[in-house]
Amino acid sequence: MDQMPPTRTTKPKFIIGNWKMNGMLEDGIKFLDFLSEDWLRHTLMRHQRYAIICPPAHLLYPLAEEMRRLIGRERNFMLGGQDCSAEAGMGAFTGEIAALMLRDAGAHFCLVGHSERRTRHNETNELVAAKAARAVEAGLIPIICLGETRLEREAGETNAVVGRQLRQSLALILPFLNQVNEEEAKTATPHLKAMIAYEPVWAIGTGLVPSPQDIAATHGFIRSTLGELCAAQAGVMPILYGGSVKPDNASAILAVDDVDGLLVGGASLNAASFRALCGA
Ligand code: PGA
Repeated sequence: MDQMPPTRTTKPKFIIGNWKMNGMLEDGIKFLDFLSEDWLRHTLMRHQRYAIICPPAHLLYPLAEEMRRLIGRERNFMLGGQDCSAEAGMGAFTGEIAALMLRDAGAHFCLVGHSERRTRHNETNELVAAKAARAVEAGLIPIICLGETRLEREAGETNAVVGRQLRQSLALILPFLNQVNEEEAKTATPHLKAMIAYEPVWAIGTGLVPSPQDIAATHGFIRSTLGELCAAQAGVMPILYGGSVKPDNASAILAVDDVDGLLVGGASLNAASFRALCGA
C-alpha cells in the first residue's frame, strides 16, 4: 500500500462491509454516491474510522474508479476482495481469481476463510493459510476469518476451535508478521500487516449476537494467542467482530475491550445503514 493506515497507537476502528454475492454495477455506484464526497473525505477521518467495502469482484474496478473520481487518493475508504485463489501466480485455474488481480483492480484487503467458504466450499485451515500467503505476496492485507459453530460453543470448545484456526491459518505468514523492517524499528510503529475477524458461525445472518462478555473473552484469547505467535504484531493487529452487527448494536460492540472494528454482511448493503455503522 502506498499509505498504511495508522496502527493501534491511535486506535482507529475498521468498519468492513462484506457484500457477499450481492450488488450490480448500478447499485455499487449509487452506494458510493449516496455516501457522498464530503462524508468520504471528512467524516471518516474525524471519527478515526476506516471503511472498507468488499464487493463482488466485478465491482472492484468500477468502484475504485468512482472513488478516485469522488475523493482522489483518500485512504480512509478502501476496497477489499471476498476471497482469493490459493494458487501462486496465474494459470489454468478456471473460475479462480488471483490476489494479484484483486490488487490490480483496486483492492487493498482480502477476506480469507469466511465461514461461508469454510462450510460451503470445504476450505481447510491449510487452504486458508495459502490464501493468506497469496494475499500478502500480492501486497494485500488479509482479513482472516475465524469462528466456532453453535455445537462447538455449546460443547465449551470455542477457544480450542478458534485457537486452532488462528494458528493454522496464520502459519505461512508468520515469518512476514514477525519480521520488523528498518522503518518500523526506527519509529517503533509496526505496520498493519493482517487483521483477524472473529465471527461465530451461529451469529452470522441469524440476529443472534454473543454477550459483550463473551466477545471480550474470545477477543482477549485471540490477542493472547497472537502474543505467542507474533509478538511484534500482537498489540497492533486489529481484531474485528462479525455476525449480526446492525446500526443499533454496533456502538455497544465497538465499546467492548479488544474490538477494533466490525465485519458486517447484511447491514452493509444499504448505504444509509453503512453510514450509520461507521458513525457508531
Ligand atoms: P451478517 O454477516 O452481518 O449478515 O451476520 C456477517 C458476515 O458474514 O461477515
